[in-house]
Amino acid sequence: MVGHVILFPFMAQGHITPFIALTELLHRRWPELTITIINTPRNIQSIQSSFPDPIPTIRFRSLPFSPSDHGLPPNTESLAGLPFPQFLYLLIASESLRPQFTQLLHQIITEDGGRVPSCIISDNFLSWTVDIAEKLNIFHSTLITSGTYGTAIAFTLWLHMPKLPAIETQYLSLPDFPEINIHWSQLPRRLFLPDDNFASKYSSFLQRQTLLCFKSNAILLNTVKEFETAGLRMLEKLITGVPLFPIGPLLCQSSPPPSSSLSLSLSLSLSSSSSCVEWLDKHSPGTVLYISFGSQNSINASQMMELAAGLEASEKAFIWVIRPPFGVDVTGEFKLDQWLPEGFEERMREKKQGLLVHAWAPQVEILAHESTSAFLSHCGWNSVLESLSHGVPIIGWPLGAEQFYNSMFLEEVGVCVELGRGNREKMSGIKVERERVKKVVEMVMGGGEKGVEMKKKAMEISGMIRGALMEVDIDGGLG
Ligand code: UDX
Repeated sequence: MVGHVILFPFMAQGHITPFIALTELLHRRWPELTITIINTPRNIQSIQSSFPDPIPTIRFRSLPFSPSDHGLPPNTESLAGLPFPQFLYLLIASESLRPQFTQLLHQIITEDGGRVPSCIISDNFLSWTVDIAEKLNIFHSTLITSGTYGTAIAFTLWLHMPKLPAIETQYLSLPDFPEINIHWSQLPRRLFLPDDNFASKYSSFLQRQTLLCFKSNAILLNTVKEFETAGLRMLEKLITGVPLFPIGPLLCQSSPPPSSSLSLSLSLSLSSSSSCVEWLDKHSPGTVLYISFGSQNSINASQMMELAAGLEASEKAFIWVIRPPFGVDVTGEFKLDQWLPEGFEERMREKKQGLLVHAWAPQVEILAHESTSAFLSHCGWNSVLESLSHGVPIIGWPLGAEQFYNSMFLEEVGVCVELGRGNREKMSGIKVERERVKKVVEMVMGGGEKGVEMKKKAMEISGMIRGALMEVDIDGGLG
């Protein structure tokens, strides 16, 4: 098969990573296929760094983009750490890339001697590309990088809000899936503010992209059908007339750090993978908890304090990818120990109980290591797939977006126990105190019945995910 595919990921690490995996997959399957990945300048640099040896059929093109034109600080090209409403500015900026994208496509066609690309695969947040593809007579596919269950719930909320009635009860029965009740602490609260100018821009952006995504020629899903049968059925109910292809799992060996990090203010250099692996090597199999809240968010300062105290009390070993707390403006010098119990890091180091990673951790390597027993995660979809592909059960602490529904789904499947729910302690009634941390960690890692069952289920799902990986490689599951 010879052709030319344009790939256009959304500007956030959790979206870029599956596109890198898709590139690798397409190249392995069809080495002669030309693949052009398009993104803003800093993101394209970061994507390119995942391909250290140049491959002639894989090309990288950047779109002109000036963050300051959109009210964003210099170099901001990723959602990583962006607070609202700057988060929204980047969403809107992504939609305004239309002329640049069209111009770049024409340029590519001219350079290729008039040969029009065979297909555009864009992120579902960039579904405005559907119209451009249609005009140029190019086949358009949307890649939904998140899971089907979480996406189906997010889509139905985006499509119906803010027309939904004000929340009077604590539970909301979903418009398209009345059998599912969502607790109000799991709702995208911003969309419930119809009088707020930013909120209405946010909800209309999401609605527009979702409706446009339904006009795509095909929808690719980063999931495994045996694992997400229910979610797949839900999406099939919402999206009629467009074929859906579960092509996951789109997994990478490693994920590059985000191209920009605003409030994180950390040097997001890759933490030496050897130091994490060496540390894990010194621990017995199945004894270490890995903790990370993904590329965009973090817990708040008092939650950090309680988490640290609970971990210490549990006496379980852990690796914690630690970031400044949510909502704290950290533009200058800071020390993380101001949000941790006194002497915590030194004590953990001396007792060999805990390793704090202050940079971008080699997450996949950590999850693949035999010493890793469980993952305390925000339930971003990449983290979920990476964890379960290695049979590692999850302690959920969703922080935003569809992560609440991912955590809910994983609990139903039996591979997750939810420890916290964002910073929404009052709304959810789930307060993360040290005793609760200790109890949940011991329940999952302590060798009791629940932990054993979760591990067994996680291993079963690992089999499904690995089976799908092999299917794609051997039989050409995309074909
Ligand atoms: C975002 C959305 O918020 C989420 O809801 C959606 O499902 C995916 O995108 P994000 O915070 O990026 O979430 O999390 P996740 O999907 O888990 O992706 C993070 C990626 O970064 C993973 O591939 C993970 O391995 C990698 N990572 C993260 C590292 O390699 N090192 C780190 O230190 C942190």
